[in-house]
Amino acid sequence: MKKFLPLFAFWLLLACESPELTEAVSLDSLVPLPSRMDVPDDRGFTAVQGSVRFVGIPEDDFAEMEEWPQSADGLPIIWRKEEGDALSLQGYWLDISADSVVILAAGDAGVHAALSTLKQLVPTSHWPEKKGDPIRLGFAWPQVHIEDEPAFEYRGMHLDVCRHFMPIEFIEKYLDNLALHKFNRFHWHLTEDQGWRIEIKKYPKLTEVGAWRSASQTGAYSEQRFDSTRYGGFYTQEEARHIVDYARRRGITVIPEIEMPGHSLAALAAYPELSCTGGPIEVAHGWGVFDDVYCAGNPEVYTFLEGVLDEVMDIFPSPLIHIGGDECPKTRWESCSKCQLEMERNKLKDEHALQSHFITRMERYLNAHGRNIIGWDEILEGGLAPNAAVMSWRGTAGGIQAASMEHEVVMTPGKPLYFDHYQFNPGEEPVAIGGFNSLMDVYAFNPVAGVPAEYHRYILGAQANVWTEYMETSDHVEHMVQPRASALSEVLWLGGKRPGEDAAFRQAMDYHIQRLQAMGWKYAPYEFKKIATDEAQ
Ligand code: ACM
Ligand code: ZN
Repeated sequence: MKKFLPLFAFWLLLACESPELTEAVSLDSLVPLPSRMDVPDDRGFTAVQGSVRFVGIPEDDFAEMEEWPQSADGLPIIWRKEEGDALSLQGYWLDISADSVVILAAGDAGVHAALSTLKQLVPTSHWPEKKGDPIRLGFAWPQVHIEDEPAFEYRGMHLDVCRHFMPIEFIEKYLDNLALHKFNRFHWHLTEDQGWRIEIKKYPKLTEVGAWRSASQTGAYSEQRFDSTRYGGFYTQEEARHIVDYARRRGITVIPEIEMPGHSLAALAAYPELSCTGGPIEVAHGWGVFDDVYCAGNPEVYTFLEGVLDEVMDIFPSPLIHIGGDECPKTRWESCSKCQLEMERNKLKDEHALQSHFITRMERYLNAHGRNIIGWDEILEGGLAPNAAVMSWRGTAGGIQAASMEHEVVMTPGKPLYFDHYQFNPGEEPVAIGGFNSLMDVYAFNPVAGVPAEYHRYILGAQANVWTEYMETSDHVEHMVQPRASALSEVLWLGGKRPGEDAAFRQAMDYHIQRLQAMGWKYAPYEFKKIATDEAQ
């Protein structure tokens, strides 16, 4: 990358002509940093005074365009579709010159990425003051040629809306944050012990009963304190479809997670006949792992889950459906006659093999409907279902094992990608689940570390997980997510750190924080206090 040249003479001229023109944003402040930027020496600034005009971009598909004031004589922002090998499917070229902005991209993903770069090149003082307002023009942007593509195809963020329910307006804001950082997957954790959050028309009790708990755990886990307040909520199918569309228009695929066979107390409270004991079962009040799980020997369980998945597939077009698979105690199965009979009939040697049998059966159903499953790395135990992708959360070993078996993998190891952990100083932060993942721990993450080179192609990418046991409000979620999501976006896009490494990234964050502020995002201040301290030393 050539050094960005502030051409002072040109700038002065421009400034004299248009006293209100706001200075161009530094290219180095882009997060994630584009993989390649060239600033020819004779380039200067392009003033955007009046309006812009999109040419060749189908408006309905690109929410990013809605903020830009358009008119017939505005600066043209032109999309030329580039077929062939020059550009990867998610890549784009962006050329900002004196009289136009040209985006070259092979498809929608590249255009979304280019528009995200353009948005970041708008000075934050010109960002819309509130949603739906236009960008305020009257700024300069740098003339530049960018050739950019992501290192990893899957760049994800997860959100648990079960331990604490998050309103639909916040899901939109969460997606806005993902789009700004070129994330392209939203993993929506919709079912849990503590609440079922998606309307299923065939099984109405899932939300009439399963979406509500009569008490909740409060404070630190060690205190074992509970309130006595009814708590819950769920998304209607109409709302979920709205989110799918909202995400699609920002280049993001929504991956729904329907947990099985464990973490299913909310469903079992609604339909106790699907458990090994027959119930009664309550929606969980506290956090943890519970013994009651779906009975693996009851054919009605499979009919039920297929009925649920039929509606889930109808709402979510994602090629991957997350079926959970984590933390399923085998206690009930060991003493359930139906489960034991199922093992005998299928010559299964233990309860781990029974879990594998369960998951493989659900995989067959989803595969027959043109979808693939992804599950937490416990689905490796007892034998991996033939086409399953693995989400590696207990470190990266499960992911490495799955990749070496030629299965696709998303890395999401607790260290450093669980954003429910502390991030600066546990003594100063609100109560969290524990652990410690700093901004720079995230920035140092490499999804293919420890993976033999021949299996790198199975590592689709990575994702951070946001479990909300200790996040009652969306403000708190924001605080846990940022600035760490910014760091993750960059290592997934660039495939490593930017030139200048940590110091250069911190410098970029000094400006980037203004973008988070302009979005109304409540990022954690602690890391920045720490940076200030580090730098003073
Ligand atoms: C998990 O954190 N139980 C996937
Ligand atoms: Zn059973």
